[in-house]
Amino acid sequence: MNLEPVPFSAEQYWQDNKTHILLAASGSVAVIKLPNIAEALGRHRNVSIRIIVTGSAERFLRGQSYEQPFLKSILQIPGVDAVYQNDDEWKNPWTRGEPILHIELRKWAHLLLVAPLSANTMAKMTMGIADNLLLSVIRAWDTTGAVDSTFRQSKPIIFLAPAMNTAMWNHPITQKQLTILHDEWGLSDSNKEGWVTVLYPVEKTLACGDNGNGAMMDWKDIVIAVEHHLSLDSTNASNNG
Ligand SMILES: Cc1cc2nc3c(=O)[nH]c(=O)nc-3n(C[C@H](O)[C@H](O)[C@H](O)COP(=O)(O)O)c2cc1C
Repeated sequence: MNLEPVPFSAEQYWQDNKTHILLAASGSVAVIKLPNIAEALGRHRNVSIRIIVTGSAERFLRGQSYEQPFLKSILQIPGVDAVYQNDDEWKNPWTRGEPILHIELRKWAHLLLVAPLSANTMAKMTMGIADNLLLSVIRAWDTTGAVDSTFRQSKPIIFLAPAMNTAMWNHPITQKQLTILHDEWGLSDSNKEGWVTVLYPVEKTLACGDNGNGAMMDWKDIVIAVEHHLSLDSTNASNNG
């Protein structure tokens, strides 16, 4: 579901002087905040947003309520230039020389924000599994910056905003995966080689009624973190896009 000729080629956009935000959502109730995040980031005049939804995330966006619009409505948000689903990877039968969508999106993105990050996608990405479009982008990420160094000066970062039930968050497997994401892959003062930033969940009463940690960080704080990293000036954000 995109507005431009397919297949998509990142090279066409390298000189467009825009900041390229790849915004992804996996299957958590917090998907309902995806439109808010896209709208807020899309207010920056120099930002281009491409969205990936997993199969589960798409199920939350079928026009059930005002905060759960159809994907085609999300595509209308100013600044959003494409919305991709898993099938888009295989839309055109691939032949030699054709671009490959998950690689092109990797090359295009200055930053990948996964908000929300489901427990399932968190588990899969830390194991290197790549069985959908989003996971393929993450698996093909240029973690050293060396692969894309001919056209990109700075190494792109992945921001992750986990969102899950408190029992899921408290499960011991979550801590093992966070050790990989934060301690091994995380960008920090002590690990300049890192390429991941975890935007940690918060405590509150969850949509399921449970009370505790695991709720996605407030979407406004997620936007601020991305704006800060990309040096997007919030005074450069316009209300009408
Ligand atoms: C109504 C509903 C709400 C859900 N909320 C969450 C959630 O907040 N966090 C989570 O990790 N999984 C949640 N799940 C489970 C995921 O959707 C499920 O694990 C799915 O396989 C995730 O797929 P994905 O990671 O490919 O998006 C929910 C499932 C349903 C049916």
